[in-house]
Amino acid sequence: EEFHLIDQLEMDQFLSRDEWIFLIEHRSDALERYLFEKSEAVRIREYGHDIYIRGLIEFTNYCHNDCYYCGIRKSNPNILRYRLSPSEILSCCHIGYELGFRTFVLQGGEDNWFTTKRMAEIVAEIHSHFPDCAITLSIGERSRESYQALFDAGADRYLLRHETYDPVHYRRLHPDSLSAVHRRKCLWDLKEIGYHIGTGFMVGSPFQTAENLADDLLFLKELNPQMVGIGPFIPHHDTRFSHEPPGTLKLTLFLLGLIRLMIPKVLLPATTALGTISPQGRELGIRAGANVVMPNLSPTEVRKNYLLYDNKICTGEESAQCRDCLEQRMASIGYQVVVSRGDSRNRSI
Ligand code: SAM
Ligand code: FES
Repeated sequence: EEFHLIDQLEMDQFLSRDEWIFLIEHRSDALERYLFEKSEAVRIREYGHDIYIRGLIEFTNYCHNDCYYCGIRKSNPNILRYRLSPSEILSCCHIGYELGFRTFVLQGGEDNWFTTKRMAEIVAEIHSHFPDCAITLSIGERSRESYQALFDAGADRYLLRHETYDPVHYRRLHPDSLSAVHRRKCLWDLKEIGYHIGTGFMVGSPFQTAENLADDLLFLKELNPQMVGIGPFIPHHDTRFSHEPPGTLKLTLFLLGLIRLMIPKVLLPATTALGTISPQGRELGIRAGANVVMPNLSPTEVRKNYLLYDNKICTGEESAQCRDCLEQRMASIGYQVVVSRGDSRNRSI
């Protein structure tokens, strides 16, 4: 029965909520092997053995939000706050460009210093210096007008994980001021404006059930984004979830495989969190169907202050080291890092 569901997915047939739940609850080693054989084949059919790289610039760890799982949330008094200046951000891009990056991802906490005007200036400046590069923003929930202004300034893509579809689960992970519905409204706005969008969720977040994951997968199918970012939840010592178990490698890989089959052309990162819970996590993620890695381009001095979770890898390295390390890791499994914007083939917006 569960093998048959994988076949159905491969044939682009819609799975119902109950079928997703059944699939998630009937995981086995044999089923995983069956899935990964197909998901890696689809990945190779769509993107060959190419790996797209994105230079991740973590430009501020100030945040006015208080997501309960997140190490840089507002009410954590034990971290050193920093924000990069516009010229420091630009200098990360210069270093990245030399290293072969053609996509820059500006990610940060929700920091009021970066008003729409300031942010738009930064985007416009990167755009004029690097017209052949894609600019991805990952700066949380903003007004539609703000998203539009940043798009007009030259941003191409936006990453905003929906985190969890279920409103009750969402409320157990976030303060009352935040809601699943508003988060999704932001995603629909971004899509309408014309961004290539990325969404996703943490695997194994506290209280998560198979039903929650089924809803997440149904939502991905409906939204049909260009990118899906999933990675294991990992506890951070200064949060209320410090003693919760992390999400597992196995379940994350299984979901990566399912998402590759469900949206064949999607861009799917093997995340830093996956590399953090297991030394070979990112390589295994690629084998399960992922095709993107996002090495860190932030200045080495600030990296240890952008700790979303404990034991995060690559916080002591130089950008060039991270880039080379990933290139070798990918080569070791027969894949090659390419110098390219790495646009999604999923254009059916
Ligand atoms: N502020 C922006 C936002 O909310 O989209 C971008 C930064 S936010 C820190 C980026 C992502 O980190 C979140 O979408 C969340 O899924 C992930 N994250 C936060 N805390 C985490 C944790 N403890 N373990 C794994 N991932 C985490
Ligand atoms: Fe950063 Fe390996 S990816 S050191």
